[in-house]
Amino acid sequence: MIEFMHAYKVYQGAVPVHALKNINLTIDKGEFVFLTGPSGSGKTTLFRLLSAYDRPSSGSIKVLNFSLNDLNAVQVPTFRRHIGVIYQDFRLLKRRTVFENVALPLEVRGDRPRQIREQVEKIIDQVGLFHKRDDYPDHLSGGEQQRVAIARALVHKPGVLIADEPTGNLDPHLAKEIISLLDKVNAQGTTVFIATHDHELVKAYSRRTIQIADGQIVKSS
Ligand SMILES: Nc1ncnc2c1ncn2[C@@H]1O[C@H](COP(=O)(O)OP(=O)(O)O)[C@@H](O)[C@H]1O
Ligand SMILES: [Mg+2]
Repeated sequence: MIEFMHAYKVYQGAVPVHALKNINLTIDKGEFVFLTGPSGSGKTTLFRLLSAYDRPSSGSIKVLNFSLNDLNAVQVPTFRRHIGVIYQDFRLLKRRTVFENVALPLEVRGDRPRQIREQVEKIIDQVGLFHKRDDYPDHLSGGEQQRVAIARALVHKPGVLIADEPTGNLDPHLAKEIISLLDKVNAQGTTVFIATHDHELVKAYSRRTIQIADGQIVKSS
């Protein structure tokens, strides 16, 4: 499902930054995995490679049936339609309602309006926000905004959901709510991979954990 083989990432510059060094990891279909490590250890870089926002300097990466090294400009959007991504800062469109934000991936894909309505309402209900479907993001709490972002990431039924510090902007109890929601998503069959530097959160859930430090995997359960 996800495979990194001898992956390296160097950011070129006056002083090159060796952000990832010899990353080897395999995540199977249906797994729920945390990626932990201090700030600057390479978590976001790893997730950027994983979502084809950037390429490894060397080594290979496979996600689902895609070999990310070989994707061309046309294939990258096709690949992204098979994954769901959520971020620390939610990244919702302010001028669109909850419904409209969640509908976006299906509109881009060209689904029919009736299909869009059915699927969007279903997923908004699953994240517990049906009553807020016509509200704008600014009128929602942080936890609610992240649930909208999760709905948007799941609406096209991706095989894998990756979340880069999804609870970084949330209070501890809201953080737990979000992880519990992702846990439910996983229980329904989606592979979930979460980057976080929050050790308390990782401790609260005994799930597979990959630890990264200074660009290298130092521990993997
Ligand atoms: N675009 C970039 N250009 C140069 N260096 C970068 C860039 N993005 C991240 N880095 C560096 O790469 C290292 C890993 O960063 P990052 O992947 O963001 O770690 P984390 O998400 O764990 O905080 C850090 O030293 C960071 O400063
Ligand atoms: Mg980061």
